[in-house]
Amino acid sequence: MDFALFIFVAGCLQYTIGEYVRVENLLSMQQGIGWPHSLTVVEGHQALMKLSITLENQQSCEVTTPAGERFNVLHPPNSRYEKWTGGCGLRVRHVEASDEGRWRLTAFKPGRNITGWSEIHVEENLSSYPASPISIIDGEKHKEIELTTLNNNYCLVTQPFSESSLVSGHCRVTIDRATRAIQGNWNVLLGIPGRVSEMHVGRRVDVEAERLDVGYVHDTASKKLHLYCNILHTIKNITFCRFQKTGAEAGYNIMDGISDGSHSYYGNGFAEKHCGITLENPTPDDYTTWRCSVGVKQWVGTHTKDQTPLQALISVPQLSGQTTIKRNTNFDGIEERVIFVQENMTFSISCQSNISLAYCWFQHPNGSQFTPLPQLPTNNEDQLFWYTGESLQTGECGITFTHVKKEDAGQWTCHMGPTTHSGIELTDQVTVRVTGPLAANVVEVPANIGGEATLYCHTSNGNKPLNYCRFLSPRNLGITIDSSVTQENAILQRYYFTPERHLDYGDCSLTINPVHAQDLGEWTCAAVINESQMEARDVIVVYFDKSAPLSRAGIIGMVIGLLVLVGILAGFVGYKRGWKIPNLSINFPGRRSVANMQIQDDRSSVTSTSSSTQDIVQFDVISPVAQPRP
Ligand SMILES: *[C@@H]1O[C@H](CO)[C@@H](O)[C@H](O)[C@H]1NC(C)=O
Ligand SMILES: *[C@@H]1O[C@H](CO)[C@@H](O)[C@H](O)[C@H]1NC(C)=O
Ligand SMILES: *[C@@H]1O[C@H](CO)[C@@H](O)[C@H](O)[C@H]1NC(C)=O
Ligand SMILES: *[C@@H]1O[C@H](CO)[C@@H](O)[C@H](O)[C@H]1NC(C)=O
Ligand SMILES: *[C@@H]1O[C@H](CO)[C@@H](O)[C@H](O)[C@H]1NC(C)=O
Ligand SMILES: *[C@@H]1O[C@H](CO)[C@@H](O)[C@H](O)[C@H]1NC(C)=O
Ligand SMILES: *[C@@H]1O[C@H](CO)[C@@H](O)[C@H](O)[C@H]1NC(C)=O
Repeated sequence: MDFALFIFVAGCLQYTIGEYVRVENLLSMQQGIGWPHSLTVVEGHQALMKLSITLENQQSCEVTTPAGERFNVLHPPNSRYEKWTGGCGLRVRHVEASDEGRWRLTAFKPGRNITGWSEIHVEENLSSYPASPISIIDGEKHKEIELTTLNNNYCLVTQPFSESSLVSGHCRVTIDRATRAIQGNWNVLLGIPGRVSEMHVGRRVDVEAERLDVGYVHDTASKKLHLYCNILHTIKNITFCRFQKTGAEAGYNIMDGISDGSHSYYGNGFAEKHCGITLENPTPDDYTTWRCSVGVKQWVGTHTKDQTPLQALISVPQLSGQTTIKRNTNFDGIEERVIFVQENMTFSISCQSNISLAYCWFQHPNGSQFTPLPQLPTNNEDQLFWYTGESLQTGECGITFTHVKKEDAGQWTCHMGPTTHSGIELTDQVTVRVTGPLAANVVEVPANIGGEATLYCHTSNGNKPLNYCRFLSPRNLGITIDSSVTQENAILQRYYFTPERHLDYGDCSLTINPVHAQDLGEWTCAAVINESQMEARDVIVVYFDKSAPLSRAGIIGMVIGLLVLVGILAGFVGYKRGWKIPNLSINFPGRRSVANMQIQDDRSSVTSTSSSTQDIVQFDVISPVAQPRP
């Protein structure tokens, strides 16, 4: 029987006869009684279809496949087919691509037969959904993440370390604000039409923050050293690219396409956000720590605006040597940094590392920990301390406290966490002394008769000019001194102003050479600090110590260059001592810093004497006393 002709005839009948009830319903019945009308099946699954109307006294149920094959469901041509349900229905096992199309079912009984059909769509059995990682910029807002392009009814999305969420319809989620917390492998279970088992899709989500990709390439064959600081994941454009060797006074202004013969641009161009330098025939000096600074601009509204440059440190190890990230801390004989600060004033401590840092924190002498965070833009009274320094990227770790208290004196430790590797934090130590406005850097100076001693007082609030500088000896001899008094024109042939120190920079420093017995005892240094109404003073005790003070240098502090002169006289040892603050930060011309100290206070009236308790050392030339500070 030709069904198509039948339908055609039925259709014609509907239009021509109109009200003829039985035939009118026939067309809709033929579609409507096939269940389901349309069925999506994934290869390998089973398809189930039937007529939704059951004929009483049904005599037979016949099937016509899309290929035109006809059979009675009770006598299928192969085992893939099987009668399904009590009425007229069919189960097709292991659906194949060739099963796609219209399946017709007809139920017969004497005097009546009904027909319906089901459209079958066969889909491939996808075992996996290959998908590349999804990359999101950190901080992006209202970001819509499309998890698949597959057709799905629903999906269940599980982000790393969080609850699952059920999404109806197309599988996408919206993130209010992207953070690294959403980074990782997302598990997605898809409900796909035509298959019973949910499909598992793993999507890798990377949250990328703008950052510098920093490193070096050593090309031994062509004798070149390349350093680079490329910006990743950015919408900004490079405006300049600068490299500077630590300790060097000047850097290199590197530009796309320009070379001076030995320093050239390295990279794929500013357009690719690449900033790099090639050093041709590098010298051993070039194997050191470099700082790169990358200038950037960005669209802000309708204008482009310069942004804070990105900076980082690149450590290039010597060719033969291994990279050592260990920083020399306070092993014996290495100088100790001391910060002098006046009570109630603002004070800062800073440490410098030669590698980029992820974080840093400080340990108070009493053991408390302080982690500096950026200063709040509003002058917030509640913020007692904050981060100071250029950036952690450039290895700077600094903290500023609004007020220093007597209890803050002592040894502070800064702990620095490098970005590049986990493990032990780098540490450095800084001693804080809470003093008067003028303070002795060493309060107890060992000296040997005939040797040399230096009494050094300095303004405690950073470098402030002194109007004059005077000393009072233990025998009440008053000495007024400035840098015009040198070793050649020394007062009493042995008191002179310590070379390379300056009243203008807050130094009040006396060198005694040679030391006589009457110089042992308590000295006073005093000066009027410009802008101050009162004279400031401190006390220094010079004590006899015939043993070599080499080992004490580190403990007592700030003595860096210690030259041992072996005297011509047998057994006579003289010391030449110079006090210099190690400037661990990068040297910028014109910057003179004493232990990176910053003082911000307008208080002009300050007490003039140090109230700190001082040990007054009794000395005896015949039986020497070596009294270390507690
Ligand atoms: C679909 O493919 C997967 C893997 O190839 C297989 O494990 C699964 O049994 C298949 N599903 C069906 C219904 O054949
Ligand atoms: C039922 O179908 C047969 C052909 O298979 C046809 O000859 C017959 O007229 C149909 N009967 C009715 C009542 O439609
Ligand atoms: C960056 O450069 C591109 C290409 O020259 C330009 O389209 C874009 O506007 C620039 N953006 C800024 C912030 O200058
Ligand atoms: C950092 O500096 C220390 C000493 O100043 C040095 O020993 C170390 O090798 C440097 N580290 C790097 C990575 O340059
Ligand atoms: C520091 O402040 C405290 C409390 O405000 C005050 O008692 C003390 O005298 C101040 N010290 C100096 C040296 O100004
Ligand atoms: C250590 O000193 C800090 C700052 O003065 C103070 O806030 C903290 O309470 C002290 N901690 C202990 C354990 O005394
Ligand atoms: C303090 O220094 C300023 C310049 O820095 C100078 O003008 C002023 O006269 C000085 N004050 C005293 C008291 O010397």
